[in-house]
Amino acid sequence: MDVSRAVATVRTVREFTDEPLDDAEIEQLIHAGRRAGSSKNLQRWGFVVVRDRSRLQELSAAGPWAGHIAGAAAAIALVVPDPRAPEAPLSIVFDIGRAAQNIVLTAWEMGIGSCPATVYEQVLVRGVLGYPDDHHCEYILSVGRPADPVRLTRPARAGGRLQLDDVLHHERW
Ligand SMILES: Cc1cc2nc3c(=O)[nH]c(=O)nc-3n(C[C@H](O)[C@H](O)[C@H](O)COP(=O)(O)O)c2cc1C
Repeated sequence: MDVSRAVATVRTVREFTDEPLDDAEIEQLIHAGRRAGSSKNLQRWGFVVVRDRSRLQELSAAGPWAGHIAGAAAAIALVVPDPRAPEAPLSIVFDIGRAAQNIVLTAWEMGIGSCPATVYEQVLVRGVLGYPDDHHCEYILSVGRPADPVRLTRPARAGGRLQLDDVLHHERW
């Protein structure tokens, strides 16, 4: 799959088969994340991979829309130095977004679906994952093979994205 096709067709997947992802597949996803360019090449990120079912269930309580984690083959927690710390640069969040999209697109190419979960229950997630106090996890990616494989090839639904004219500005806003 070429990049532009992956960009045009990737969609969120929230329901997964029971089939696990093997170590090589997980490593391929994390390689994709770690290869992202980052501000000053600082690479301020860590990826905590969870495959244990009971821990996935615990993480599915991370927020009101995190339930999909419970049925995922794996969760990839995106952990960064706390971007809310005084003087923390906004590039931390830009960089982890780039890494996340690398993971999402590489997964898509591999026939693996994904969905972000926004972490509201910070104490719970810190307790499950054990990252240092000065680090933060705002998003967790669920990954797994789609329960409905048609999702991998289904055409984009009309109206799913703003049109070019809605977002493109030439020269000035
Ligand atoms: C920053 C961010 C946070 C998101 N948080 C959640 C979430 O907590 N739970 C969830 O089910 N989906 C979450 N999503 C997925 C969005 O709902 C999804 O990308 C959007 O609806 C577009 O879906 P589509 O790609 O299938 O068209 C999140 C997406 C982003 C980019």
